[in-house]
Amino acid sequence: FDPKTPQFLTSDPSSFASVSADDRWPVIITGAIDDLHRTSAEVSDAEKQKEAKAIIEKLAKLKYELQHNRQLTPLDDDGESDIASYNQELEQRGNPVWHDAPWLYAECYLYRRIETFFALSTHWKGYDVFARQKMSTFKSSRPAVLELAARYRELALEAESGKSSEGKSPEEIEEAEKLLFSEMCEICLWGNATDLSLLTSLTYEDIQKLQGSQARKASQSNILVNDIDAAFATLQKARREKKDGERRVDIILDNSGFELFVDLILAGYLLSTGLATSIILHPKRLPWFVSDVTPKDFSDLLNSMVDPQAFYTAADDTGKTYPKLSEKEVEDVRFLFEQWSGFHQDGKLIVRPHHFWTTQGCYWRLPHQAPELFEDLKESELVLLKGDLNYRKLTNDAQWDPTTPFTTAIGPLGPKSGVRILAFRTCKADTVVGLPPGTDEKLRQQPDGGGDQGRKWAWSGKWAVVSFSDGKA
Ligand code: F6P
Ligand code: MG
Repeated sequence: FDPKTPQFLTSDPSSFASVSADDRWPVIITGAIDDLHRTSAEVSDAEKQKEAKAIIEKLAKLKYELQHNRQLTPLDDDGESDIASYNQELEQRGNPVWHDAPWLYAECYLYRRIETFFALSTHWKGYDVFARQKMSTFKSSRPAVLELAARYRELALEAESGKSSEGKSPEEIEEAEKLLFSEMCEICLWGNATDLSLLTSLTYEDIQKLQGSQARKASQSNILVNDIDAAFATLQKARREKKDGERRVDIILDNSGFELFVDLILAGYLLSTGLATSIILHPKRLPWFVSDVTPKDFSDLLNSMVDPQAFYTAADDTGKTYPKLSEKEVEDVRFLFEQWSGFHQDGKLIVRPHHFWTTQGCYWRLPHQAPELFEDLKESELVLLKGDLNYRKLTNDAQWDPTTPFTTAIGPLGPKSGVRILAFRTCKADTVVGLPPGTDEKLRQQPDGGGDQGRKWAWSGKWAVVSFSDGKA
């Protein structure tokens, strides 16, 4: 069911695939080992500690195999239905070695294999080796969280008082709404620039710089393809035509912490303006690509906002303390908490995990592999896919000519699919489509753009594409 265009391989020295396999993955496994060491040191149960030691050995073996270019071995059966498909594909692909494997398959396999270690244990089922890192990075996003909470509350109060539409014609109101929608989408897009699987090369200070409104303004011209207006038109049409009917928006989530926070800002905005009547959030079933959202991350985020003062001022591991929040700051965050938990309780904000999102393949397989999910997504007014990995899966992480239309590169999810798709992607990998002719060539000529050697400009999250497909004939 996959496209014929070849995929990026970890053996290609000019692509980010090889940098990932050589440099990033060993660091990520080492981080997992350190985390488990720390947690198990705090455990009193000797059996549990012993088991942690065995899992650490498995992680170390995995790292050894990766660094010594061994073959990927079949996954142990942890009782979940996806294992057979991972193993079947591994065999079909000829049991490749780590440094000459399809990038997408190998990277999904890495996280799925780590999951089997925990799933097959007695005491560590459901343990998330990345959770500590996810929460502490969210905490370090404090300045951006406070800025956004204040801005959002101000907008909501303005809308409530009717002040924002006073003396305006319907056209002016519509134009203002479109601008605001764009702003919300941009917040949501750039929130993705800071995922933790790239943290091996970014500092917390870099992250904070990437998250503020100044940075967003400066980055507007870095959106190489921008279909936000088309998505707005779709939602607006639905609101007009199904005024009193159900109008659902789905968000295929990417990272937790700050990115989930901005996704919820967008979700809250869509619900409160009536551009949607319900939002379905699709998290991952297991710890995935370091920072992806699991159902627990969603509840942890809401819990951290119940008492923002306690969350943001508690001393960290090193004993460092943080300045108190002002009363207004506490109220701004509490306002968001109350709105989101209200939506959640009313069934307007729903969290719905599915096995499909952590399978190894591209989304061209969706209609065959998860037909009920595919049918269900057709019911949505708009399916928003966040982040780099979702984009790589939409396009099979293939070596497309960058001017290939987005609708072609997403195959069965494109024309005639009946699914309306909007991909919000900051570029962190080589594959990219839908670019105007000459754009890739121009960006390659920039300092550090990669030149004839590769598409290095697309690795850092500095550039973005927002691509829409209306799913019609
Ligand atoms: O390209 C680097 C990378 O870490 C890939 O492994 C992965 O596709 C992606 O970035 C993860 O980013 P995101 O969280 O945006 O999907
Ligand atoms: Mg991610």
